[in-house]
Amino acid sequence: MTQRLAPSELSALLKLATRLASEAGAYLLDGVHRPRTSVETKSTASDMVSEMDRGAERMIVDGILRERPDDGLLGEEGAERAGTSGLRWVIDPLDGTTNYLYGNPMWSVSIAVEREGVGIVGVVEAPTLRETFAAATGAGATRNGTPIRVTDCDSLDAALVATGFSYDPDARRLQGLVAARLLPIVRDLRRAGSAALDLCAVASGRVDAYYERGCKAWDLAAGAVILREAGGIATDLENEPPSTSMCVAANPRLHALLQSELRAGSSHHAG
Ligand code: IPD
Ligand code: CA
Ligand code: CA
Repeated sequence: MTQRLAPSELSALLKLATRLASEAGAYLLDGVHRPRTSVETKSTASDMVSEMDRGAERMIVDGILRERPDDGLLGEEGAERAGTSGLRWVIDPLDGTTNYLYGNPMWSVSIAVEREGVGIVGVVEAPTLRETFAAATGAGATRNGTPIRVTDCDSLDAALVATGFSYDPDARRLQGLVAARLLPIVRDLRRAGSAALDLCAVASGRVDAYYERGCKAWDLAAGAVILREAGGIATDLENEPPSTSMCVAANPRLHALLQSELRAGSSHHAG
């Protein structure tokens, strides 16, 4: 492992990520009620993308390359670049596209910076909510500049649990079975429609936990840094970093309880 980043470099990255998320957020908010010129479907009929997703990614990528031409990139709408600096930006320019296209406020811009595969900066901007969640390694997590923290809930029956569903109908069938098993033993379930905001909801105590199977790196990268800095953890079912196989997020005690329940649920339904 190479030397730690200087605090000034970390705060410059956080500042750039915050500015780019805010600019992309303003662009998306400005366009939210304009007639859409192009709405297409991607993997399935429920997986939509519009000219706004692509426009926001272009803005963010151009902004990064202008200031940091040596960094790597990964963006949902196609940005991919190896880079030479050891840093990689992971971008979901519009997380919650379905909500956005319906005028539902739960959508966000998600920008993370990773160093040698570990998240060091995360910014999730939710323009309709007028909220910016941000964190950098060792600096804590904030909402609009105010520190946030996970709840101390330590039992499933007192846990408000967020989740999400894949765009793939077969995966959804299994997700429905796992959710049906969980529903009677938790306080309640929530489905907001933006994985990045779900992780921020755990980080700020709006829910106690979140789990979802099938998320991509760009859905989780920024929210996972924010959650970690707010005292929570996010892993898969094997305590490896969260991946498409599973993301389980909560404070450490509730995390272990939810993880073992999901392990039992997943093996029971093989899904
Ligand atoms: C989706 C949202 C949703 C989650 C899906 C994601 P998108 O991202 O985060 O909450 O359930 O798994 O794909 O497509 O709106 O960027
Ligand atoms: Ca997403
Ligand atoms: Ca997206």
